[in-house]
Amino acid sequence: MMEATQMLMSEHRVIERVIQALEIAAKRLDQGSPVRPGFFMDASDFIKGFADGCHHKKEEGVLFKALVESGMPIQGGPVAVMLYEHEQGRAFTRAMREAAERLETDPTARAAVIENALEYAGLLRQHIQKEDGVLFPMADRLLPLEKQQQVTEDFEHIEQEETGEGVHEKYLALAEALEREAAHTVTEA
Ligand SMILES: [Fe+2]
Repeated sequence: MMEATQMLMSEHRVIERVIQALEIAAKRLDQGSPVRPGFFMDASDFIKGFADGCHHKKEEGVLFKALVESGMPIQGGPVAVMLYEHEQGRAFTRAMREAAERLETDPTARAAVIENALEYAGLLRQHIQKEDGVLFPMADRLLPLEKQQQVTEDFEHIEQEETGEGVHEKYLALAEALEREAAHTVTEA
């Protein structure tokens, strides 16, 4: 497997940890237990900064482009589906954050937080499975070695230049904090 897809897959594992924490927190809220509104805002910060920032930037800006250049159709193919799902994910995240901001003042906000958090989690789980199980193996077969090396270099460039030093680590720490907080809300019950 090429280095670039491996990098993306290890980022998927981090995203999955946050998805799980988000599901736990949303279910707790659904059972009528209090969950800090900031939990959902922090989770949306993670999604925006890491899943959409660090991660989807590599997929959309580099890997998907390389696949299309190597012959994968831009419309009607797996790349179009992945792009559409990224867009859906952004919409769920925006709606979750917007509802979380109203959680303490608007009685309708709770249902909206829960619904959008769970929709996001469900969407991303199956999305990640498709990338890991179908798209990335296709990329490994389709991209010539030279192109694979270019993709890896472009990923490193994104990490260093666009995302910035220490940002990746900051989000890893945030993922861990969200995981701990979600586990804590359960043991408190
Ligand atoms: Fe991905």
